[in-house]
Amino acid sequence: MVEEPADNPYVRDPDTSFAPVDDLDAATAREQARRLRAAIEYHNYRYYVANDPVIADRTYDALFDRLDDLEAAFDLDDEHSPTRRVGGAPLDELETVEHVAPLLSLQSSGDAAEIREFDRRIREAVGDVTYSAEPKFDGFSVEVVYEDGVFDRAVTRGDGEEGEDVSANLRTVGSVPLRLRDAPDFLAVRGEVYMPRSGFQTLNQRRIERGDDPFANPRNAAAGTVRLLDPSTVADRPLDVFFYDVIETSATITSQREAFDLLRELGFRVNDETTLVEDVEAVLDYRDRLMAAREDLEYEIDGVVAKVDDVGKREQLGSTARHPRWAFAYKFPARTGETTVERIVVQVGRTGKLTPVALLDPVDLQGVTISRATLHNAAQIRDLGVHAGATVRVERAGDVIPEVSEVVADDENDSESFAMPETCPVCDGPVAREGEHHYCTNASCPAQLRRRLQHFCSRDAMDIEGVGEAAADRLVEAGLVESLADLYTLDVDDLAALDGWGERSAANLRDELAASEGADLGSFLYALGIRHVGTERARALAAAFDLSDLKNANAEDLQAVEDVGPEVAEAVTAFFESPANVETVDRLAEAVGPESPADEGGDELDGLTLVFTGSLPGYTRSELSNLLETHGANVTSSVSGATDYLVVGENPGQRKREQADAEDVETLDPAAFEERILSRL
Ligand code: IVH
Repeated sequence: MVEEPADNPYVRDPDTSFAPVDDLDAATAREQARRLRAAIEYHNYRYYVANDPVIADRTYDALFDRLDDLEAAFDLDDEHSPTRRVGGAPLDELETVEHVAPLLSLQSSGDAAEIREFDRRIREAVGDVTYSAEPKFDGFSVEVVYEDGVFDRAVTRGDGEEGEDVSANLRTVGSVPLRLRDAPDFLAVRGEVYMPRSGFQTLNQRRIERGDDPFANPRNAAAGTVRLLDPSTVADRPLDVFFYDVIETSATITSQREAFDLLRELGFRVNDETTLVEDVEAVLDYRDRLMAAREDLEYEIDGVVAKVDDVGKREQLGSTARHPRWAFAYKFPARTGETTVERIVVQVGRTGKLTPVALLDPVDLQGVTISRATLHNAAQIRDLGVHAGATVRVERAGDVIPEVSEVVADDENDSESFAMPETCPVCDGPVAREGEHHYCTNASCPAQLRRRLQHFCSRDAMDIEGVGEAAADRLVEAGLVESLADLYTLDVDDLAALDGWGERSAANLRDELAASEGADLGSFLYALGIRHVGTERARALAAAFDLSDLKNANAEDLQAVEDVGPEVAEAVTAFFESPANVETVDRLAEAVGPESPADEGGDELDGLTLVFTGSLPGYTRSELSNLLETHGANVTSSVSGATDYLVVGENPGQRKREQADAEDVETLDPAAFEERILSRL
């Protein structure tokens, strides 16, 4: 645990009403900047490493902005300043750098007999041992070097002898310390960079909304991000690191346990699942436990690693050219399998994008039957050489859509190679090509309508329950919905007569539709499915315009909104240039009556910081945050000394409650929340 900087006014309850920068003399400015840097790095540590922040996000932002202002006004440049974490200038290429020590790989197997055999050899050579049992992270490994206590460089694995210098990118990762206190003169550590699942999902969702290809899995996303040339793009991506090895240091380390302790003490982020075990059977149990918990972890793991804990014994055992003899990775069974492609079909999405999909001879991947896998686009099919009849490897990573990763055998190579259709496979409308992607350009294509309808009703959009993929297909196929706006004039008897529906489902949909009236404008705009307008941009647009102004906004007006660039502005103006879209939007607006945040907002909750745990009946978390924030409150994700209330709903998390207890933060149950907070609005 890193000690709190002493006598630093920016650590606990900082006063953020700063005097104008111009009023300071150079010496005072330099001193203030020095303290701000120390405090901000400590807050980074509390937030990213200890997961226990002591100030509210807004206060942190105020400290950060102040430091930024001081550095600009007084030319106080420092490459180890936390302000440098937002990402520097783009690089032309990544330089090649030698490692401090060669980075070996691990012997590995998914076979219990092999790890027992590993254990037998160990005991034969050095007698009884204790193992450090650790998750095997499925990410991207890096070596990070500190000289005189400051971050010097980060290097990718490369060929094990030398790798690429990714220092500028790793500097943007909040949990990588830039400065160590009481550090040895020289320190080289190793860790695994990964992308947390939730961040990966959001990133992919944003990519899909923008029309970019999603990443296949979090590991590819992390690996692709670490090697980007533009550090400011990296700064916007959710990367994190677990450190697991001290490669070289002037301090003496006699066991893996000590290595973890040293890492923790210096402020590195270390995984909490690591443990010491006395024999190989306990490693097997550990592996079973982690395999069962695998899907609940925020990071992907593909097995466990057993390492001889004692460094003296490690030295006795030594290494081969490729791997140390004292460690073994016991891998989980792969979530991949082989099967044959029966056919390649082409699906049409909400934006009209055509996606080729392989229909497979069903195969079981770790308990999930896979019968289709995405092929992304025509270029991917060409690169992999996939066609009907080929035997392929399919992979499933996390919650991601399964994909074909390679062709393993290709006996029937006489089948025709795949070509993207020249007209839309659903409506026969014209197909346009944009780079590697193909789009159906017929705005009234029923396939697009089905997916737009599904999107319109989805949770972050209008939250109309019951209109998933199958129901949307049915409503369009039956001719009941020819335009999104038809939703609100649906006849309950027509619905009840639909195949598989009945009166109950029809009445439910009617009630859901009625409940969606008066939705906030942000959700409404997102629901329209305008290209490049995801939930956050929709919210920003709703805060800046009411609906009629938005319809008439030009590119310049639009680009005044945060995170709206030329491409997004073009998508919005193009959307409202279509008379058919305007008619649909007008009819929908008439039925829904979306409410602008400006109509309903106020400052009743100004200055109040709230955290939620558990669910509150009747609201989604994002609805609540929207509502409270439009009235001036600050809704944050973790409890700190600056939190005013922790609102405890159904199935609350343990951790936030414990933190509230420790920080003396008042908790509110749903009734108290209603009475004390909501009633003020
Ligand atoms: S220790 C000498 N511990 O697995 C080997 N590696 O095949 C030192 N990895 O490239 C590695 N989790 O990226 C170690 N808990 C863990 C690990 C781990 C994942 C990766 C690492 C390395 C590969 C080795």
